[in-house]
Amino acid sequence: MTKSTITNKGQSLYQRAKQVIPGGTQLLSKRPEMFLPDQWPCYYSKAKGVDLWDLDGNKYTDLSYMGIGACVLGYADDDVDNAIKEAIAKGSVCTLNCPEDIELAEILCDIHPWANMVRYARGGSEAMAIAVRIARAKTGKDKIAFCGYHGWHDWYLATNLQGKDNLNGHLLPGLEPAGVPQSLGNTSFAFHYNEIEELKEIIKKHENNIAAIIIEPIRNYEPLPGFLEEVRKIATSIKSVLIFDEVSSGWRLNSGGAHLTYNVNPDIAVFAKAMSNGYPMAAIIGISGVMQAAQSSFISSTCWTEGIGPAAALATIKKYRECNVASHLIEVGKLIQQGWQSAANDCGLKVSISGIPPLAHFSFDYENGQAIKTLFTQEMLQRDFLATNAFYASYAHKEEHIIAYLKAVSKSFVIISQAIGENTVNKLLKGPVAHSGFYRLT
Ligand SMILES: Cc1ncc(COP(=O)(O)O)c(C=O)c1O
Repeated sequence: MTKSTITNKGQSLYQRAKQVIPGGTQLLSKRPEMFLPDQWPCYYSKAKGVDLWDLDGNKYTDLSYMGIGACVLGYADDDVDNAIKEAIAKGSVCTLNCPEDIELAEILCDIHPWANMVRYARGGSEAMAIAVRIARAKTGKDKIAFCGYHGWHDWYLATNLQGKDNLNGHLLPGLEPAGVPQSLGNTSFAFHYNEIEELKEIIKKHENNIAAIIIEPIRNYEPLPGFLEEVRKIATSIKSVLIFDEVSSGWRLNSGGAHLTYNVNPDIAVFAKAMSNGYPMAAIIGISGVMQAAQSSFISSTCWTEGIGPAAALATIKKYRECNVASHLIEVGKLIQQGWQSAANDCGLKVSISGIPPLAHFSFDYENGQAIKTLFTQEMLQRDFLATNAFYASYAHKEEHIIAYLKAVSKSFVIISQAIGENTVNKLLKGPVAHSGFYRLT
């Protein structure tokens, strides 16, 4: 019996989901269509370390996104979960505030000595929206220049009001701005990473009204020499707030923001996801001259005061620092990147490898690359791996996982290479080709 016939509990639950949940899931990147339409196991019954079990009891090893970048210590990490259990036992919410907020703020400022104030949220997008609000409140200006992906909020999607393809090339193509007020058109402008001239062009047109320049300090490519420094210089010279979005880059190159590695400081940095190993938590850290502007606006929410998020973040960050987790992630990521390349070389497949080692990617360099990627996921699932054309490293990925995974990659690449040669990629697929971006589901 093949996996595609025994994982049907997950698939049939997903059909029910689409009747009661518009879009099926709460996160585009967790849609089964993004991986392997009609075949992906969709739901888990248990997850531990790098292993997870689907609703039919099949066990898989995750060498894909590890909770879409959130679970850097691995699933259900004992140290983090014990801290959570203590927080729950104490009562995780009441009418008073939780003291862990202050301990966490002090640690975040200790790790990032340029920062001296912190606000919290519980998700990356809302934390970015808070950073934007603070920047606008501080400067009295409206417009935003940015590159990269920063979430689902109006300020970001407004970019696509001027042209629905403006956000293509910023991680997720095809994002529709339906529901974003037309009046926000002409408030957010995208430029590409390392393309300083594009930023200068935006500044030239809107110089007096740029509240913030927002970038991920690193994602798919190393910064060109001087790029980050030049962005810093421009933000200072036009008196706008420089925001580094560390929601995905944070905690992977060192025990803090990736910007520490590049020695360029923003005015605000934003963390979420990996800062608490996937428990809901986010932090907006910054210099007091900017952060105090939060007081002139209204930024306030009940669930930002509960105690589980801070307890998870404290335990997670402690482990990052004590175990030097980032060096493990870099090492493991490099092994995977080298493994992809040598498996491809062995069978003559054309692939391009990119990303910092802890957030590694590859692409199949063929016209039907998306169909080939789908076939790769299908082949790897048959071999009990959750896999796609990316690998987000975790501390729970050990040598034995890497060896077993690369063996399965080699076998899958041979099958794929043969299928390309015989023009049978689509014939081998047992379902539709995976989606590459945002689409309406039926
Ligand atoms: C750089 C970056 N910013 C913001 C977000 C949004 O975070 P969340 O999904 O927690 O809202 C993400 C999510 O992938 C991200 O990678």
